[in-house]
Amino acid sequence: MSNHRGILGQKLSISKLQTDSFNLSVKISKLSNIQNTKLTKLYDTKRYIDPSMFSFGSEYEDMIPNGTPPFLDSGEKYVERITRALSYFKQCALIGPSGTGKTHIVYLVSELCRLPLWEINCGLQTSVFDLFGRYIGLGKENWIDGLITNWCRHGGILYLDEANMMKQDIATKLNPILDARGHMVLTEKDNEMIHRHRHAYLIISMNPFSAEFAGTKPINAAMRRRMSVWLNFDYMSSGKNVDKKEIQLVTDKAGIHWEIAEKIVEVGAKLREEYKTGDLPYGPSIGDLVNWGMLIADGASIEDSSNETIVSMTSDDLEVQDEVKSVIQKVFRYKSDERNGI
Ligand SMILES: Nc1ncnc2c1ncn2[C@@H]1O[C@H](COP(=O)(O)OP(=O)(O)O)[C@@H](O)[C@H]1O
Ligand SMILES: [Mg+2]
Repeated sequence: MSNHRGILGQKLSISKLQTDSFNLSVKISKLSNIQNTKLTKLYDTKRYIDPSMFSFGSEYEDMIPNGTPPFLDSGEKYVERITRALSYFKQCALIGPSGTGKTHIVYLVSELCRLPLWEINCGLQTSVFDLFGRYIGLGKENWIDGLITNWCRHGGILYLDEANMMKQDIATKLNPILDARGHMVLTEKDNEMIHRHRHAYLIISMNPFSAEFAGTKPINAAMRRRMSVWLNFDYMSSGKNVDKKEIQLVTDKAGIHWEIAEKIVEVGAKLREEYKTGDLPYGPSIGDLVNWGMLIADGASIEDSSNETIVSMTSDDLEVQDEVKSVIQKVFRYKSDERNGI
């Protein structure tokens, strides 16, 4: 051993030790926790999960979301409460209608805590093999871990969206992992036992209003018992309550005047109320309202832009579409008469 080049290109001189025979082992761990400082200033999650205390290695770096926008709330501190639940209990449940930011906030927590995100939509027909693993080809040589197995082994956040739609065979295999025992047994793979990684966290989410439409069932009792913390999400604006923060967000993201954004959010709030009472099959998210606004910013009329976006998005049933159109007409006609030309 003589001269070596260090990682920064400098020469490392170890000439004094040249006569000795020894093994030099150097471990270089890249400081991968390049944090979005703007985000970390907004949320106090570090006191619960401090990303400088662990590292998942570069192969999982791509699974950590990047550039997630802030989550707007009215001081409820949802981001911190989720992180607290994960640090104390390893798992929590988010309940709320579609479009209330559940997926958004999971991405945000994942980014803030620098945890790889493993995401499953339980409403899709994902098989137990995809999630737990399988042999590929003939013979027993080539086992491939499924998504849940990977999460259990390597850690991160497992996000089970629409958890109440989960098929029973998957729930049955998942439940033992969520216990204090915290391990899984791959019966298919000679009963290999995998202990739950110390940074393997779970978030499940559910939409309480999807039941009537999608024929979903309540979440299975075994899983319910294993969730210590339940957080309720709701739209920022709903019914008569129109939130100024939501108007501001639509104004900024769509690039339209406040007055138009205000009406868009007003329409959204009414449609969401009808969704909650079961009169409409869908309530628009902030994202849907922003999309509508973007078309208006591009010069489309209120009618055309809404037909192309939230009217069609709510349903393809013409009667339901008429109901949505009438809400839009009421909100816009009433105010647009005062301010010509909107
Ligand atoms: N409180 C919020 N702050 C910022 N964006 C939000 C909020 N709630 C919803 N959104 C936006 O609305 C859209 C739908 O949110 P999403 O997370 O997909 O809802 P969910 O998973 O509850 O159905 C996304 O574009 C999301 O960024
Ligand atoms: Mg979602």
